[in-house]
Amino acid sequence: MLARLEAHVAEQQRFAANASHELRTPLAVSKALLDVARTDPDQDTDEIIDRLHTVNTRAIDLTEALLLLSRAGQRSFTRERVDLSLLAEEATETLLPLAERHGITLETGGEVTPALGSPTLLLQLTTNLVHNAIVHNLPDGGRVWVHTAPGPHSSLLTVENTGARISPQQASTLTEPFQRGTERVHTDHPGVGLGLAIANTITQAHNGTLTLTPRPAGGLRITVHLPPPHLPAGR
Ligand SMILES: Nc1ncnc2c1ncn2[C@@H]1O[C@H](COP(=O)(O)OP(=O)(O)OP(=O)(O)O)[C@@H](O)[C@H]1O
Ligand SMILES: [Mg+2]
Repeated sequence: MLARLEAHVAEQQRFAANASHELRTPLAVSKALLDVARTDPDQDTDEIIDRLHTVNTRAIDLTEALLLLSRAGQRSFTRERVDLSLLAEEATETLLPLAERHGITLETGGEVTPALGSPTLLLQLTTNLVHNAIVHNLPDGGRVWVHTAPGPHSSLLTVENTGARISPQQASTLTEPFQRGTERVHTDHPGVGLGLAIANTITQAHNGTLTLTPRPAGGLRITVHLPPPHLPAGR
């Protein structure tokens, strides 16, 4: 019990240190850009504004991800009946242009899969997983499969993708906040490293489990088990 408590405190301290470090980076970059703008009159102002805009957007994205992580962890949302297959459809529809831009084939399938929870958070969970499956994929000809299935003991959502080979050890660390694995292949700006931590926290807040399994040929399969609506889904 004491060991678990100590591990939890150490995790919280690591989280606070990482979050501060991540937030300080865009602020330090902005300051450097502002210093340059102030001291060097020959600087290209348009370029500085563009770069300030980029780092500012990154700081906002990071803050929003942190807020989401904290809100999901509080479990204070109302639960209603949702169909995971509809959420999967919505997430893939939203991300289809991103997939197309990067030449990824996106397949969605599965039956009506009822679960109990926050539609907003469960959509966020699905979106994070599908987004990852697209951006951490092969540079060319990648594939993503999104599937839902109801069951007597759990409602299932799986997101599977091709990609670089991942070892089981690597996979086991990826849900930790601020963990980034391989270089992102398809991106305009680097990730924060919170998407999977958010997905995991949302799953746990719904009394579910999220499992990462490396695919032998490369890429990942992520499986989310949620309690079906007829099972007690309380805290
Ligand atoms: N579907 C996936 N296939 C392969 N690798 C993945 C997949 N999902 C996550 N990863 C690896 O796990 C790391 C952590 O993922 P996570 O979503 O937490 O962060 P991110 O995608 O880097 O940034 P963001 O906070 O913007 O989502 C990624 O950097 C990537 O290396
Ligand atoms: Mg991500």
